[in-house]
Amino acid sequence: MAEVIIRGTGHYAPENVVSNFDLSKIVDTSDEWITTRTGIKERRITAGENTSHIACRAAESALKDAGITAEELDLIIVATVTPDNVTPSVSCMLQSMLGARKAAAFDINAACTGFIYGLNLASMFIKGDIYNNILVVGAETLSKIMNWQDRGTCVLFGDGAGAAIVSSSTERGVGSIIIGSDGAKGEVLQCKALPINNPFLKEQSTEEHHSHVIMEGREVFRFATGVMVDSIEEILRRENLTPQDIKFFIPHQANLRIIDYAAKKLEVDISKFVINLERFGNTSSASIPIALDEMNKNGLLSKGDRIIIVGFGGGLTYGAAYLQWQK
Ligand code: UT7
Repeated sequence: MAEVIIRGTGHYAPENVVSNFDLSKIVDTSDEWITTRTGIKERRITAGENTSHIACRAAESALKDAGITAEELDLIIVATVTPDNVTPSVSCMLQSMLGARKAAAFDINAACTGFIYGLNLASMFIKGDIYNNILVVGAETLSKIMNWQDRGTCVLFGDGAGAAIVSSSTERGVGSIIIGSDGAKGEVLQCKALPINNPFLKEQSTEEHHSHVIMEGREVFRFATGVMVDSIEEILRRENLTPQDIKFFIPHQANLRIIDYAAKKLEVDISKFVINLERFGNTSSASIPIALDEMNKNGLLSKGDRIIIVGFGGGLTYGAAYLQWQK
């Protein structure tokens, strides 16, 4: 059976930086509140580029880092909750933009856990000897599903994309992966799609339609802290490792207080947790691959480093994966 490695990474975020102070001009908030309650200082907001564009920039960077061409890709998986269209998918748009002639392509929606779900799928395709090179992207333009009058959500999120080339290898780079969901709690983090509407309805709906994120923050917080700790402990158990054996934990970047809680509960020094949310906010499916790429490109990863990535989000969903850096 083939082993799986992350052969290259990339990320891209729109140039437009929006600070907490900028937000305080449009909603009743302050830099002080956002910083102390979340750790976020600024985020990137698109000036017009859609999800496919930012996904493409991240993918190009990952291909370059991996040293392969788009034509060598067998499959493209894009995790997103903010696609350009219902159809064509972002992954199919990417297949065309990159010139990945022989690649199959599909999108998945596991919200902020999307990259880990995508990595899991890619691993299975490789371990099943079906494909050799798979592009996994987490890409979001969350700014288009924000309610810019709701200070409880619009200060938290940002736009961005992260990508990884996942390839077959003789070395073990991607180990245990767990994914899970708790659909019964889905209501605490929602964004509605189009409502039922057709000329044959007995009663036409008068309900006002919107596609904005609505969130019960405290409920998500409670879920997040629980599943983050449990998922990391489960990965450690499966890999027969202790927290001390892990060089870096790369968590979904939602709230510094969530990460801090998990670190304390696991009795791990917070310095082992990779944090960049102060610069990007919560970019949903993009947050983990953006952080992984920053670590890679800044030369902070060495061959053999043991890493755990862990995430949670809408659905509700959660997941974690063990990586051993093999570049
Ligand atoms: O990828 C998954 C996405 N979601 C998450 O990870 C969210 C997880 N949850 C959280 O991160 C936190 O619950 C939040 C950051 C969303 C909220 O923090 P909190 O400490 O749970 O605050 P809260 O919702 O309990 O609100 C406390 C107060 C309220 O005022 P009152 O009722 O006490 O007067 C809010 O209205 O803070 C107020 N508030 C704000 N004030 C200034 C809420 N948002 C803001 C704001 N600026 N932006």
